[in-house]
Amino acid sequence: MKDTENAIKPSEQVIAREIYARLTGVIDPELGKSITDLGMVTGVSVENTSAKHYAVKISIELTVPGCPLSEVIRERIESAVTSYPDADLSLTLDVGSMGEEKLNHLVAELKAARRENPFHKPGIKTRVFAIASGKGGVGKSSVTANLAATFAALGYDTAVIDADIYGFSMPKLLGAHSHPTNLNGMLMPVEAWGVKVMSIGMFAGSDQAILWRGPRLQRSLEQFLSDVWWGEPDVLLIDMAPGTGDMAISVAQSLPNAELIVVTTPQPSASDIAVRAGLVALQVPMDVAGVVENMSWYDHDGQRLRIFGQGGGQRVADQLTQQLETKLGHKVPLLAQLPLETDVREVGETGRPVVLDEDGQLASSDLSIRFQEIVQQLMENNQTEIVTHNEDNEDSEDESHE
Ligand SMILES: Nc1ncnc2c1ncn2[C@@H]1O[C@H](COP(=O)(O)OP(=O)(O)OP(=O)(O)O)[C@@H](O)[C@H]1O
Ligand SMILES: [Mg+2]
Repeated sequence: MKDTENAIKPSEQVIAREIYARLTGVIDPELGKSITDLGMVTGVSVENTSAKHYAVKISIELTVPGCPLSEVIRERIESAVTSYPDADLSLTLDVGSMGEEKLNHLVAELKAARRENPFHKPGIKTRVFAIASGKGGVGKSSVTANLAATFAALGYDTAVIDADIYGFSMPKLLGAHSHPTNLNGMLMPVEAWGVKVMSIGMFAGSDQAILWRGPRLQRSLEQFLSDVWWGEPDVLLIDMAPGTGDMAISVAQSLPNAELIVVTTPQPSASDIAVRAGLVALQVPMDVAGVVENMSWYDHDGQRLRIFGQGGGQRVADQLTQQLETKLGHKVPLLAQLPLETDVREVGETGRPVVLDEDGQLASSDLSIRFQEIVQQLMENNQTEIVTHNEDNEDSEDESHE
């Protein structure tokens, strides 16, 4: 008789094991993972108190003590362990909170498991250049497209992110119109002129565009970084929206190695605000690689016409140097002055950066050489040794044309 009783009465150990198995199905509402995986269950004990009655004691450690969601976890545990065939269970839940070390360890694990922003990897070789301006329309996107094409043509593994999510222009300027391939949730950037490029414009009209634009800029940028398979390019250029604010801060947060390139036109109304765009480096840890002056002059019938005045690029470089040199440990150079040329726009709009000729080779134009000089300066390690040329001083005989 006694033997039969023992046979139908579940052992304490079996119940404990079953309860633990059920706890693996209890999900932490905040972290979305099982409480056992999260190391929150620190003990399950079962004691047979009388006949079919078992006292179950579960010890858990919450990540945040007394958080409002602890009630949800408690209910989920209770409903998971109320019944057991041929046994009555009474539950005592011992709720504590994780020690600091355990919590730190858990957070580190969660972060590692999260889809990684590859540009956060320590020791990554990629140089990241964010192209910024104060005013809109000064040529950031044209500079980005031509600089990217130059880098790629010179043999650098080059990537471009179009971070101007509302006014995207990279698909057009690089002629990159196809849809990125989706590989199990990982997107492959589109390649054009040897440049890997990703832009929200490639999803125009699709749900994905809305998803990516999201409520916050920071999140969109993070998605561009982590949902796209970039490999480890030599250079990543980021074409930013105009303005001095949020975007640069977002870039600095997502890309700790990013260096700013400030684009300006020569007139004071553009350069004054460009200085402010550069001074974002006072707020966030960001290097300023240099200044590019665009639309510096227009060569017409052998005359150099300075349509937008002159000196803006040098002014921005000087003022940024004055305010940032101590912090950066180097001067902020004027990397180039770029002429106003109809081809920049006309050829650019056909999807070919004008620094390239039709077969994708570097053109032998003056403009192409200027872009190659920018690349050379950017890739020189020692920033302080950059020699800058300011052609405003070299051709003073033309100044009468202003
Ligand atoms: N050096 C140049 N010569 C001739 N046209 C140029 C030059 N640079 C830019 N452009 C033209 O000026 C216009 C604005 O340039 P672009 O779109 O590159 O500026 P942006 O700073 O990116 O503008 P936004 O602030 O709207 O993003 C475009 O039509 C472009 O083709
Ligand atoms: Mg632009």
